[in-house]
Amino acid sequence: MKILITGAGGYLGQGLVLPFEGQGELRLMDVVDFPTPHEKVLGSVADLDTVQRATEGVDALVIAHMASRQAGAYETTALPYEVNVKGTANLFFAAVQHGIKKVALISSIGVVHYYQQRGEFLSRDLPLRGEGVYSQTKICQEIIAQQYHWEFGIGVAAIRPAYITDMDTARDKYGRQAEEANWQFVDRRDIGEIARRALLLPDLGFEIFWALSTPMAAKHADMEHTYRRLDWKPRYDFSNLKQDLS
Ligand SMILES: NC(=O)c1ccc[n+]([C@@H]2O[C@H](COP(=O)([O-])OP(=O)(O)OC[C@H]3O[C@@H](n4cnc5c(N)ncnc54)[C@H](O)[C@@H]3O)[C@@H](O)[C@H]2O)c1
Repeated sequence: MKILITGAGGYLGQGLVLPFEGQGELRLMDVVDFPTPHEKVLGSVADLDTVQRATEGVDALVIAHMASRQAGAYETTALPYEVNVKGTANLFFAAVQHGIKKVALISSIGVVHYYQQRGEFLSRDLPLRGEGVYSQTKICQEIIAQQYHWEFGIGVAAIRPAYITDMDTARDKYGRQAEEANWQFVDRRDIGEIARRALLLPDLGFEIFWALSTPMAAKHADMEHTYRRLDWKPRYDFSNLKQDLS
């Protein structure tokens, strides 16, 4: 299986790619150059011609790009919608043209931010209800993905991480160091393994997969489905850190 991973040079991408290594061919895409031994496409997901080129000869996609959170980027709609929403629409559009049947979309807990804030259990069937421009773009991504599933039969794993942190360094994407782990923590490599297993499902529909690494997570979100459906357990469970059990 040949897989295209977008946003591959980013914080998530650098770790997500690891479980895929040695499992098939990889083509990695990003708008910013980054070192990799794998085939690379440099360009924007917002450019359909580039996306058409990037998706040619590929069997599955992992959509993991996002407009970077540079100063003020998410205080207005322009860049987040251009990259997150149009970029995702371009990838699904090209997927149909190239006969690609499986996509892992890296979504976010932000799509149900409203319920998370109220301490509700995060099942897989909550209505989409976020807050702010970032959430809006992630909601749009899931809606586009579901539409392409219904209309063209593309199997989609909508993977919802919460707070991505590296277990080895206990640092997040901004370099902030965690003193203790809470239920929202997820390691980049665990997300990659969830995506890899989901893409191997022969009967992948449009499916939500919560992606969280600590044992406390099952109290807050429907991790059981991810565990059972993918025969997966977190490998990077943050047991090296003190646990915030609330
Ligand atoms: N970091 C977290 O805690 C977190 C939590 C939940 C979900 N996510 C999701 O994980 C994914 C990756 O986030 P991240 O934290 O690694 O962000 P990041 O900014 O570190 O990585 C995103 C990558 O996308 C690339 N990119 C930006 N614009 C692009 C374009 N036009 N075309 C192609 N590539 C482009 C960037 O260069 C960057 O390498 C996103 O979908 C995000 O919503 C992240």
